[in-house]
Amino acid sequence: MRFLVMGSLNYDYTYFVDHIVRPGETIASGRLERACGGKGFNQAAALAKAGAKVFLAGLTGPDGDDLVRAAKDFGVDCAFLARTQERTGNAIIQVEEGGQNSIVLFGGANRKWTQQYREEVLGHFGKGDVLILQNEVNDGNGILRCAKERGLKIVLNPSPFEPDIVNWDLEKVSLFLFNEVEGEQMTGEKEPEKILNCICARYPAAAAVLTLGEKGAWYAQGEERIFCPARKTQAVDTTAAGDTFTGYFLSAQSRGMAPKQCLEIAAAAAAVAVSRKGASVSIPVWEEIAPFTSALPCAKVNPDV
Ligand code: RIB
Repeated sequence: MRFLVMGSLNYDYTYFVDHIVRPGETIASGRLERACGGKGFNQAAALAKAGAKVFLAGLTGPDGDDLVRAAKDFGVDCAFLARTQERTGNAIIQVEEGGQNSIVLFGGANRKWTQQYREEVLGHFGKGDVLILQNEVNDGNGILRCAKERGLKIVLNPSPFEPDIVNWDLEKVSLFLFNEVEGEQMTGEKEPEKILNCICARYPAAAAVLTLGEKGAWYAQGEERIFCPARKTQAVDTTAAGDTFTGYFLSAQSRGMAPKQCLEIAAAAAAVAVSRKGASVSIPVWEEIAPFTSALPCAKVNPDV
């Protein structure tokens, strides 16, 4: 039983600014940092830091060595990472005082996935394994279909959202994780309750986790609804908070924890991540989160989503 993240790897160029630049405006930033990121990379890092066995499949360019090294350092299995001639993806991130961010992506190598690469990777996985997919690589629906055919369970984080996602074979998904913006884009609804009702009605076999930042998070499956408030923290950089939440929720679930406790652990991990600068480097390790939860079970990893 293993986690497989098929997703993006980016170099993040983070500019710390007073406020996020407005149209037509030019502003100076106090500091620029370059770090390893990408939703696929971050979610794999979060899973590994949370103690899970995780493989990352994705593409970098000839300039991708730092990302591969960083992923290995976090404990991610990089056997299925590959190279293309296209430059590695990158993200231009502005972080304003208070921690809010805005991101512009250049897909680069992340947009060079082929059917052959996807099938080569998935050929090593099957029933009992869990795929985690976002929307920063091309061929998302092809990956989803192929993984389902091979018997993997599918976790989808539809981020960044694009209208075409609703045309994917979403009935094959076991668990959706998304924020309120993506929830509204998926359903046309604004209220958390309505968003969840809509997802549960459309995809009755799936569970859904809706994150609301400092307003907490919801879990839904069928008629069941569980709410977990966010932990209070001094936010300095919200980049990768959602990725941290995703990795920790899944790791907690794989340890046999109930959805309420998975939410609590994921919320605690996300709160730590936003109190630190950077994407993957801000993600805590499991030992840091242990004090936040009363009943930590054994470290046995047993994905069952
Ligand atoms: O979710 C945060 C990530 O989104 C950043 O690391 C950036 O690379 C973008 O993909």
